[in-house]
Amino acid sequence: MNEKVLVARQLPEKFINQIKEYAEVDVWNSELEPMPREAFLERSQDATIVITTLSEQIDEEFFNNATRIKGVVNLAVGFDNIDVKLAEEKGVVVTNTPEVLTETTAELGFTLMLTAARRIVEAVQYVHNGEWKSWGPYLLAGKDVHGSTVGIYGMGSIGEAFARRLKGFNCKVLYHNRSRKEEAEQQLNVEYRTMDELLNESDFVVCTAPLTPETKGIFNRETFKKMKNSAILINIGRGGHIVESDLIEAIEQQEILGAALDVVENEPISDDHPFLKMDQVIVVPHIGSSSIATRDKMVQLCVDNAKQIMSKQDPITPVKL
Ligand code: DGY
Repeated sequence: MNEKVLVARQLPEKFINQIKEYAEVDVWNSELEPMPREAFLERSQDATIVITTLSEQIDEEFFNNATRIKGVVNLAVGFDNIDVKLAEEKGVVVTNTPEVLTETTAELGFTLMLTAARRIVEAVQYVHNGEWKSWGPYLLAGKDVHGSTVGIYGMGSIGEAFARRLKGFNCKVLYHNRSRKEEAEQQLNVEYRTMDELLNESDFVVCTAPLTPETKGIFNRETFKKMKNSAILINIGRGGHIVESDLIEAIEQQEILGAALDVVENEPISDDHPFLKMDQVIVVPHIGSSSIATRDKMVQLCVDNAKQIMSKQDPITPVKL
């Protein structure tokens, strides 16, 4: 039987052709519609490797079904869609796409921070709606980023890339991480804070952490109460970091000023989600790493990881617990 790579999302032909050089390829035929679970399970039954996105849950049901599987190659740096411990027990290699997306993702986070601070979405709508009648002393007046205190929750490589950008804005940069990052403290002039201190002191709180059982729901009623009433929360981590009903309440009660989110708990967001009616909340559709160059690098890394696994070599970017 031939070795098969199942690709759970349509990818550019130039990458698929590379896989064809070392295996049979089965590619789902849509870029935007995820594979229905049933089709994914059925088509992974005889697969040696699956190239997945965050839409595919890799769990016990998957492993019981995909009995020939040797590798799960995730097209993302995050891997909260994968039961990595179970994969390890089953001897299945898991890979992700770290580093290649760091700068692009930090850039999107920065864009969200500036966009929220300067009320850019409201401003564009104002002009589109024909409401612009004159210059006004406080027309759509926002919040300065320069000189502000920014608290980064999660000081991995994306957190560090974010901190580097803040230097040019003369910001005071605080961070909270599960462990101290002394090198980053020295090189980037960032200061460690407990979570409570970070929430208390920051004008902008930026979540760049991975989603784990420890970080799930970290932004909730209690934590919002500890933030400044004028603070803005930026999330480029995962939707699961925020208890959304608590965020809505915190903004309505003016406990915090607003939020800018690349991710929400259930993606895609539903048309009737309260966030979509709130001027103080900006939502973009999980595009953190979405520049053409970076997406190309992520896909190439997946293709290379798959090739390594197929030829029983060490993968380039294995996920380790
Ligand atoms: C990532 O790489 O984890 C992005 O959020 C895409 O899933």
